[in-house]
Amino acid sequence: MTPVTRVLVLNGPNLGRLGVREPEIYGADTFDDLAAAVDGWGRELGFAVEARQTDDEAQIVGWLHESVDTRSHVVLNPAAFTHYSYALRDAAAQVTTSGLLLVEVHLSNPHTRETFRHYSVVSGVATGTIAGFGFQSYRLALDAIAGKLSGAATER
Ligand code: DQA
Repeated sequence: MTPVTRVLVLNGPNLGRLGVREPEIYGADTFDDLAAAVDGWGRELGFAVEARQTDDEAQIVGWLHESVDTRSHVVLNPAAFTHYSYALRDAAAQVTTSGLLLVEVHLSNPHTRETFRHYSVVSGVATGTIAGFGFQSYRLALDAIAGKLSGAATER
C-alpha cells in the first residue's frame, strides 16, 4: 500500500485572529473555517492534512523540524515572520533540502502592500510561493503539491 501523503499547514502570528483582524484585507472567515477548508481540499487530493496556528516563532521552527522527521510536506503562511525571521528561513531550508515540498502562501498579496512586506526571507528556500488569493492560496498550494508529486508532466 502506498503510504499516505502528509501535509502540515502551518500558520504564523495573528492568523488565529482571522475574521476579526482587518477583514477588508483578510476576509470575514475564521481560522477554524480555514482549517476545515484545507482539511476538505486535502481529503479530495488523498492527503492527510493538519492545519496549525501559533504566534510563537519557536513553535513554528519546531513544527518545521517535525515535518522533516515525519516526512510531511508543508504549506507555510509565515505571516509577519515572512519578512524577518531567519530562524524560520533556516528551518524551512531543512524541509526543502531534505527532499520535501514547502509552499509559502499568503492570503493577501504582500507586494501590493507596505514596503516592509515586499521582501520574504522564506521565499528563497521555498519550493514556490502563492499569494493574493485568500483561502484559495492554500487550495492552490495543495494542488501544486499534488501536481509535483504526480510527476514529470508538470515539470515544464
Ligand atoms: C500575510 C501577509 C503578511 O505580510 C502579514 O504579516 C500577515 C499575513 C498574508 O497571509 O497575507 O500576517 O502572511
